[in-house]
Order: sequence, then structure tokens, then C-alpha cells
Amino acid sequence: MNALTPNRPDAPAPVGLLAELTHRCPLRCPYCSNPLELDRRSGELDTQTWQRVLGEAAALGVLHVHLSGGEPTARNDIVEITKTCADLGLYSNLITSGVGGALAKLQALYDVGLDHVQLSVQGVDAQNAEKIGGLKNAQPQKFEFAAKVVELGLPLTLNSVIHRGNIHEVAGFIDLAVKMGAKRLEVAHTQYYGWAYVNRAALMPDKAQVDESIRIVEAARERLKGQLVIDLVVPDYYAKYPKACAGGWGRKLMNVTPQGKVLPCHAAETIPGLEFWNVNDHSLGEIWRDSPAFTAYRGTDWMKEPCRSCDRREKDWGGCRCQALALAGDAAATDPACSLSPLHAKVRALATEEAAENPPDYVYRTIGSNVRSPLKEEVHS
Ligand code: SF4
Ligand code: FES
Repeated sequence: MNALTPNRPDAPAPVGLLAELTHRCPLRCPYCSNPLELDRRSGELDTQTWQRVLGEAAALGVLHVHLSGGEPTARNDIVEITKTCADLGLYSNLITSGVGGALAKLQALYDVGLDHVQLSVQGVDAQNAEKIGGLKNAQPQKFEFAAKVVELGLPLTLNSVIHRGNIHEVAGFIDLAVKMGAKRLEVAHTQYYGWAYVNRAALMPDKAQVDESIRIVEAARERLKGQLVIDLVVPDYYAKYPKACAGGWGRKLMNVTPQGKVLPCHAAETIPGLEFWNVNDHSLGEIWRDSPAFTAYRGTDWMKEPCRSCDRREKDWGGCRCQALALAGDAAATDPACSLSPLHAKVRALATEEAAENPPDYVYRTIGSNVRSPLKEEVHS
């Protein structure tokens, strides 16, 4: 249970800070959770501001900092920022693609006290992985990077985002994690917001494939007990109940964008009318306790039926607000991933239909593009 902040008993202290240091990235994954309109380098926060924000996070009670992006090692000051985490006693997790300049900076990151590395892998077969990530020769760089992480004695987690382009490789991801010496593997079925929402028809697997992937993970968990922990994120569209997105709105996480806007989740900017405060104008504590965006869907007062009277409302907090907006046209609606939502059957049918069709080409993540959703049908229309 989190400690309560003194001024706002309904606002538990945040546990984690996702520091999106930059949106720059050598990869172009079609399921990226970054917004469609990516921040440019010229607008990124400077080193001193990040260091101040990290100090405010520690004072607020944050324990874990996820150094993320984009590709966080694209920042020239990634070592200084990581050192600040260590100096403040914050557990630092580098979320990286392992390509570009990542390997060259790894030793220095280790030397200043980096605690953990989470490496993304797009596929097992190199050609498939590089098609998904949109970058040639990425796979050997990832292997070399992972070997160095393990050689340094840093704990390594592999993150694999699963979709119809790689769901046949789930067993291979598990073997790969063992081979690389990872302690943990995330088999994370795609969550459909950000770029993944745009690419939903290209990414949606069918129910039989999903069931088989779950079976493979469950068998491997037994087989590899004590050697590899496997986290499984099941796909919302085929689930019975939604997940507590971000651990519940304004309950556990803060997400700081490259330009300093503070969001309750990755995709919060897709919700019209929310006002996001910036670390350039407010302290992190003020933003957490009082900003309109963080208080908008905190707790349960905002809920409508069926969430309002549901006994799971403080377990999943009504699911994902951004998905409710995207699928139901109302961010305060029950997440249509929930089987109790009146839209659930329609969402299921849409997923089944998209999975049965030939996948369209990926819309790759790019900075400065003017992307529009190619989806044929919106659920609520
Ligand atoms: Fe969760 Fe709402 Fe569904 Fe109940 S109705 S399970 S609170 S999303
Ligand atoms: Fe925004 Fe789930 S991504 S609440």
C-alpha cells in the first residue's frame, strides 16, 4: 500500500516515473506507444531540468525511474541523468532498443550506478525482427548489447511486444531470453493506442493464436521456474476484464514527455479537453496532487455504469481511459475491453474480422509525419 501524500489523502504517492527523455529512436516500430505527433529534439528538456525533476520525484516518494523514449541513449547526457538517479537513491531502469549508441554508453551507465536494463526485441528471426522494427542490421547489435549487459552483471529483462507478425515466435522468444541470460521476459500482447491503434488491422492476431501463445507461456513458466520469470500481458480485445491501466489513473505512475508535459499515462494526450501541466511551470508534487489531468479520473467518482456499481472498480479502475475514448468515444465510459461494457461484443467482432483479413502494410513511426488512422470503422460510430 502506498503512503498517502499529506495534502491530498485521496492521492497515494506515485511509485514510478517514466522519463521519456527523447522521442528520437533508430527503430520505427508500428506499435510504438509514443504519440503520433512526436516531440522534436529542439524542444527537449535540458539536463538541469531533468535533474531537478528527478529530485522532486524522489522527494515525492517515487522509487523507480524508467529511463525511456524513444531511445534514451540518444541523449548525450544519459550518463549524467542516470548518475543523478543513483545519487538520489532512485532505482533506474534503462528501457532501450540496444541499437545506435546504446552499446558504446553501457559501461559508463554501469559505472554511475544503472540498476536494470530492459531490452526490446521485435522478433526472433532477424529478417522478421528487422521488418517489424524498420531498421536493417538491428538484431546483431541487440545480441551484442545483451551479452555486454549480462557480462557486467546487470539484470536483463527482454521485452517482446506480440502481434500477428510475430505471434508464431512466442516459443522462440522464450528460448532467446534463456540463451541471452535474461532474468525476465515480458510477453506483452500489443495494447492498441498510439501507433498501435493506427496499425491495429496490421497487428491484430486471431483468438486461436492468442490462446496458443498463452498456453506456450504457461508451460514455459513451469519448465523454467527459478531460471526465467515470464510476465504475460494478454490482449485487451480478447480479455474478459481490462487491466488497471497504468495501475489506475493518477495512482502509481507519472509520465514526463521530452518537452516536460506530465501525463498520467502514455496516451493521455489523445483525450480532448484535459489540461496537462509542465515541469517548467509547476513542481512534480503540485502536478501529481492538483493538476486537472491527474485529478480527472483519479478514484471512482467519475465512473459511469456499469463500473460505478461494479465490485471490481477498485481492482481495474474501469480499465483504460484512452481506450474508452478511442473505442467508445467517451473517456469516462467503461473500457470496451471489459465484457460488461455494452460495446464489448462489437470490439471482439471487430478484432476477429481484422485478424481474418490480409494485414495492411505497417504505418511506421516517424517524427513529423501527418498520420491519419486507416481503420475502416470506429466501434462507437
Ligand atoms: Fe472493471 Fe468497470 Fe468492467 Fe467492472 S464494469 S470489471 S469496474 S471495467
Ligand atoms: Fe491512457 Fe490507458 S493508455 S489510461
